[in-house]
Amino acid sequence: MTASATSPQNYSAYTKQDYRVWRLLAERQMAALKKVACKEYLECLEALYPVISPDHPPKFTALNRKLMAAHGWSIEVVPGFLPVDEFFELLSRKRFCSSTWLRREDQLDYLEEPDMFHDIFGHIPLYMNADYAEFAQRLGELGVRYQHDEEKIKQLQRLYWFTIEFGVMNTPEGRKVYGAGICSSYGEVKHLNHPDVEIVPFVMDEVLAQEFIISEVQMKYFAIDSFPQLFAMVDELDQRWSAQE
Ligand SMILES: [Fe+2]
Repeated sequence: MTASATSPQNYSAYTKQDYRVWRLLAERQMAALKKVACKEYLECLEALYPVISPDHPPKFTALNRKLMAAHGWSIEVVPGFLPVDEFFELLSRKRFCSSTWLRREDQLDYLEEPDMFHDIFGHIPLYMNADYAEFAQRLGELGVRYQHDEEKIKQLQRLYWFTIEFGVMNTPEGRKVYGAGICSSYGEVKHLNHPDVEIVPFVMDEVLAQEFIISEVQMKYFAIDSFPQLFAMVDELDQRWSAQE
């Protein structure tokens, strides 16, 4: 399948078991996030209610209407992991990839690859936030511009990983989370309190140089102070790289 071939979500195919799994995951995570998620994430989640609710798996057509009306984003249904160039190309066009399958009930806390709960509940709400959405799009644009530069792509993947996937934020109410890998995972929320976990201030050059292993649990996180700060940093990176050309 190519990035431009949007396949629909077969909503009527979700089983009673899927509804049950979605409810278990969404109720547990909504309760856990009340205390730990940044207010922007919680506000966005609320803005998407009842499209995202524990009562039913989210209907992508309804979600797309909300996302499109807010900042022009939509969901691109994909069968699994995409090549990085296609992924960045979609982001640059304000499309976020999602799978449509849901984990089984005996897999609530274990995932080999992202399912719809991770992709939608974890990632999608913040595309209702203007600064976050613009950051993601600009990241995608840089990915398209430098798609043949292996080193820069690696750096952009790290930037993505330590923000969109595992980002945390210092706020007046204390340290909060916004990364989808944390927002969609009960285990990750608890893991942040592990005594060996290191949370350091977000310094762009450190993030760009920080290696990560997808299959391993995070021991280091980078804390931003706000979403506008993220946007300013991608802007700075853009200018820096443009000046090198
Ligand atoms: Fe993700």
